[in-house]
Amino acid sequence: MELSQYQIKLIKQSWRNFRDVSPAVVGDLFYSKLFSDHPSLRKMFPKKMDEQYKKLIDTLTTIVVRLDNLDTINDEITEMARRHVDYGVKPVHYKIVGDALLWTLKKGTGCDWNNETEEAWLSCYTILSNLMINVTAQKETL
Ligand code: HEM
Repeated sequence: MELSQYQIKLIKQSWRNFRDVSPAVVGDLFYSKLFSDHPSLRKMFPKKMDEQYKKLIDTLTTIVVRLDNLDTINDEITEMARRHVDYGVKPVHYKIVGDALLWTLKKGTGCDWNNETEEAWLSCYTILSNLMINVTAQKETL
């Protein structure tokens, strides 16, 4: 699966609009959605989530900036995926988190959101989560 130049443009544009909302608000929206749909995940995360909001937004920003050239951050993504195995994250969790992320992006970008943007983000998240899941699979067989 690959993103077209047009999809990359859509993702970058919508992410710019989205980031204009404060990370705390966006983070709150994302984790509230995640934990209300899947309460059992709450215990995997720290009690205080402020730091977590910022880390998630910063990381997504790095990824969006590098979309044209994801290879350049392959090592970072691999390391992040390894840490996620230690947090207890399983491959099935990626779809759950992806749904909450897309829901949040849709809410946060408002009228700029359309089917094309949704498809572009879905492909982007699928590429990223497949990369992370592959690392997970490797780590589990070690
Ligand atoms: C593409 C998807 C994801 C991205 C970009 C992402 C990003 C991050 C980042 C940047 C951190 C901060 C710590 C670190 O870098 O290790 C983090 C921590 C964490 N993430 Fe994710 N994550 C993703 C998917 C998931 C999934 C599917 C789960 C499953 C529920 C998850 C659960 C966690 C947990 C439990 C922590 C640790 C909190 C802590 O103990 O401080 N993440 N994530």
